[in-house]
Amino acid sequence: MTDSTAESETFAPPEEFVTAANVKADEYERADADYLSFWAEQSRDLVDWKEDFGETLDWTNPPFAKWFIGGKLNVAYNCLDRHVIAGNGDRVAINFEGEPGDSRTFTYAELLAEVSKAANTLADLGVKAGDRVAIYLPMIPEAIISMLACARLGAAHSVVFGGFSADALRSRIIDAEARVVITADGSYRRTKATSLKPAVDDALSHGDTPVETVLVVRRTGQDVEMVDGRDQWWHESVETASPEHECEFFDSENPLFILYTSGTTGKPKGILHTSGGYLTQVLYSMKAVFDIKPESDVFWCTADVGWVTGHSYVTYGPLAAGATQIVYEGTPDTPHQGRWWEIIEKYKATILYAAPTAIRTFMKWGEEIPAKYDLSSLRLLGSVGEPINPEAWRWYHRVIGGDRCPIVDTWWQTETGAHMIAPLPGVMSTKPGSSQRAIPGVSVDVVDDAGNSPAGPEGGLLVIRQPWPSMLRGIWKDPERFKETYWSRFENTYFAGDGARRDEDGDIWFLGRVDDVMNVSGHRLSTTEIESSLVAHPYVAEAAVVGADDATSGQAVVAFVIVGNNVEDSPETSEELRQHVGKDIGPIAKPKKVHIVSELPKTRSGKIMRRLLKDVAEHRKVGDSSTLADSSVMDLIEESVAKS
Ligand code: WT7
Repeated sequence: MTDSTAESETFAPPEEFVTAANVKADEYERADADYLSFWAEQSRDLVDWKEDFGETLDWTNPPFAKWFIGGKLNVAYNCLDRHVIAGNGDRVAINFEGEPGDSRTFTYAELLAEVSKAANTLADLGVKAGDRVAIYLPMIPEAIISMLACARLGAAHSVVFGGFSADALRSRIIDAEARVVITADGSYRRTKATSLKPAVDDALSHGDTPVETVLVVRRTGQDVEMVDGRDQWWHESVETASPEHECEFFDSENPLFILYTSGTTGKPKGILHTSGGYLTQVLYSMKAVFDIKPESDVFWCTADVGWVTGHSYVTYGPLAAGATQIVYEGTPDTPHQGRWWEIIEKYKATILYAAPTAIRTFMKWGEEIPAKYDLSSLRLLGSVGEPINPEAWRWYHRVIGGDRCPIVDTWWQTETGAHMIAPLPGVMSTKPGSSQRAIPGVSVDVVDDAGNSPAGPEGGLLVIRQPWPSMLRGIWKDPERFKETYWSRFENTYFAGDGARRDEDGDIWFLGRVDDVMNVSGHRLSTTEIESSLVAHPYVAEAAVVGADDATSGQAVVAFVIVGNNVEDSPETSEELRQHVGKDIGPIAKPKKVHIVSELPKTRSGKIMRRLLKDVAEHRKVGDSSTLADSSVMDLIEESVAKS
């Protein structure tokens, strides 16, 4: 997506925005002067510590960092109690909008009572500090309530996206050793009630998980089977529990959550985040990047809590900041394509945080749809999950932001916990398509393959030079994989897995992943994981998967498979394999296309050359294939693809 005008095109923020901004231009210098004192100051200012910390960072055993040593806090207390104590108990915390049109509002005092009830229930079930609880819920308030109830008890949650399969849920429950699963009967998607509870039953049916209790929220009213002695209704247990819960305070490094994400191998990684550092950087990004004004802003992050964006910018960020937010259960086109804009008008949203894939979809639907709604309450827009192409950026700026709202393109990862690279909207002009520069207190660089900086004009690899407060503390139960994945490529430097380049102003542009990780609609998928799933199907002998550029979803999953001798090369076979992956991993992983081919391009040592398959999938002339063991293979593949 090259766009020659973009690099010099900038948009200055409105004057009122600059005047009222939470942070000023000197912020960078202050942070650069001494990044540890900068973070210590931010943390003391933004977090309510029960006991102050001593040392800011312990980096004596890299890459295992500890932040805010000896400090004690409770993350849920920071999200709820402190706002009520400060006299803001009547402020709306959550405006929930269900897909069928039902809505619920929780003030901070009400949310505190709900979280206290859930914490009391979990405590009665034996959940205590150090335990893990799996959460498999749709985007309903109980998801946020459950996460905060765990945090209140010092137990770590492991949220599994409701769109993942029973098998994916099972392996995550086993890896995290969760004692309790919180789920719902079902959820609403495109007006239909789809079931969720049977996937939990399936996941637990093998008898190899440590789960003792399943708490079931009633959302759709579907019939569900309840297993005696294991399953309990949320409305029976939680609703009758006491709304008072005295919280304990935990060490700064107490685990807050595990969140599984795709890596370059088939096995998802359990990314571990802890409390004090995570909360500090999430809160700092709310202040500096989102310029949050808790008394007047209505914040809407459209991500599901099943992803890190939902953890940091639905559950923890807006609530710890004491802001009012919108939570929406459903899809953007139910019951009509103006649903998001209707919600913004209804609640007078001031900040919208969404993924480029959604913006591109709205562009496709046409600007006359948002034009029907009053979007004048908006003052700031955000983008996350994948590079935003300049054209989508400009459309977002003009059509949704009325040429008045700065756009913050925020680069970060499940691993980084919070924003790392993003413009500060009250400090600088924004630039379509660029995330611009690291936030104050964070040090990033773009290096060449050998680790030299600066990389050439064509770009290089993004690295992070210094530890940061919300950095992952490791991969659950796998310290070696943690070291190897992120810290072995360059010494004492975090390797993010993204390609990037700097323009003449020093601003950063992202070029996509440099490993076998795909980004489909802002969701991270592993080529290896999908290949393993395909190969597990009895039809399939061999499979290779690539992420091909796609105008709407950024990348699309395209699979090339060799099927067994007795299997027909037909559209039905391809469809069966697509459905298989959907069932095995989850609908988001379903390949857009499955091409049946007779050979795969391999080097003499047997390595599949995915680069060549990507050329085919993107309808390009196939690149240099001289290292192939058999150079005629690409012709055969192109022929079969042309036929299908
Ligand atoms: C990967 C992380 C960050 C929360 C959502 C995804 C890509 C993310 C941007 C952006 C270009 C981006 C990167 C990154 N990515 N945001 N603003 N510009 N690329 O979290 O699932 O952990 O994926 O998403 O490739 O490594 P994730």
